[in-house]
Amino acid sequence: MILSAFPYQSRLASVRATLAELKLDAFVVTHPANVRYLIGFSGTAGALVLDHRGCTLVVDFRYITSARGVAATQHEPDTIAVRLAEQSEDETVVEHLRSIGAQRIGIEAASLVVSRFNRLSAALAAAAPTPLNSDSPCPVLVASERVVERTRMVKDSSEIAVLRRAAALLSRVAREKVGGFVRPGRRELDIASDIDSALKDAGFERPAFETIVASGANSALPHARPTARVLQAGDPVLLDFGGVYDGYCVDLTRTVQLGPSSAGFRRLFEAVAAAHEAAIAAVRPGVLTADIDYAARRVLDERGLGEAFGHGTGHGLGLEVHEDPRISKGNAVRPPLPIEAGMVFTIEPGAYLPGFGGVRIEDDVLVVDDGCEVLTRVPKEIV
Ligand code: GLY
Ligand code: MN
Ligand code: MN
Repeated sequence: MILSAFPYQSRLASVRATLAELKLDAFVVTHPANVRYLIGFSGTAGALVLDHRGCTLVVDFRYITSARGVAATQHEPDTIAVRLAEQSEDETVVEHLRSIGAQRIGIEAASLVVSRFNRLSAALAAAAPTPLNSDSPCPVLVASERVVERTRMVKDSSEIAVLRRAAALLSRVAREKVGGFVRPGRRELDIASDIDSALKDAGFERPAFETIVASGANSALPHARPTARVLQAGDPVLLDFGGVYDGYCVDLTRTVQLGPSSAGFRRLFEAVAAAHEAAIAAVRPGVLTADIDYAARRVLDERGLGEAFGHGTGHGLGLEVHEDPRISKGNAVRPPLPIEAGMVFTIEPGAYLPGFGGVRIEDDVLVVDDGCEVLTRVPKEIV
C-alpha cells in the first residue's frame, strides 16, 4: 500500500479561513474522514480541536501511539498536540476548549449525535464562570455544516494521483476478472465473494461498500444485497463494486444479460447507456450539478423511463464513497452547486422496472478545464 504525502498544512489553512469567516474561535472535528483529511490520522474515534493558533488531537488509549506517530510527522506552522482522554474524550475536549478560552465553538452538525452535543454543551456551561464572577459569556456550540467537506470536494494533485491509480486498478478487475465470474448456475453471493477477492488481489485495502450482485428481478432494486439466488439464462445481472486504495474510494457498475438477449433488456440498456453518455458530455467547470443530472434524466424521460430513474445521477468520491458534490436535482439541504475542475464523482444513471429488472451503468470522472476525464476505462458490456 502506498502512503501518499498529502498537503495537510494547506488543508488546515483552508479550514482556518472558513473558521474566520464563521467567526469561530475553535472547531471540533469528530467525523473520522475529516480528521483523516486534515492531519492523516485514520483512527475510528478521536476529536481534533482546531483553533487559530494550533490543533490538538484528543484520543483514547487505543490510539495514543498512532496519534503520536502522526503528530511526529507534522511540521510548522501546524504542529499537533496530542492529549490522552483519561476519562472520556468529551471531558478532555471540554478541558482543552476551556484552557484556550474558546467562546464560539463550531461542531460538525452532520456527525455529532444529539446526546454528545448535549453532553458537551452541559459540560461547557457547568465549567463556565458564573455571571457574578466574570463578564465572559458561557461558551456556545455552533452547529456548522460542510466546513471540511467544502474543501474535500475539490481534490488536490496528490488525491487525483491516488484516485487515477485506484480507478485504473478497478477497471482492470472489471475488464479481466468480473465477466468470468458471471455464469448461469452460480449464486449472487458467490459472485460477490469472487469480486471481493479480486479487489484484494488487485491491491485494494477493502471493498468500498458491500458488493452488489443482483440478478433477474433483483436487479430492479438499486441497492440490492447479494442473495442465494442462482443465475439463470436470460437474466439481467447488475454488478456494482468498488475498492478503497490508500484511503480513497472508487466505484463502478456494469449490467450484463446472460444469453439469450431480450428486446426488453436491450431497450433499458440502450436508454441508460445514452443517459450515461449525455451526463458525461455535460460535465465541465461552471455547469451546475443539477444540469448534469438533468442531462441524464432528459434522455430517460424521452424514452418513457423517467419514472424508472428514481435516484441521483452521481456522487463525489474521495475518503468516503458517497460525498459531495451530489449530482442530483438538489434540494433545500443540498442546493445545486457549480462544478469545479478537480472534482471527482460518479456518473451512474439507471432504470429499474420492478418485477422485470434494472440496468445501471456507473463510471468515475475527474473534472478538467475543458470537460472531464473518465477515470474508469471499461467497455459498457463486459460479458
Ligand atoms: N453502490 C453504491 C453506489 O454506486 O453509489
Ligand atoms: Mn456510486
Ligand atoms: Mn456503485
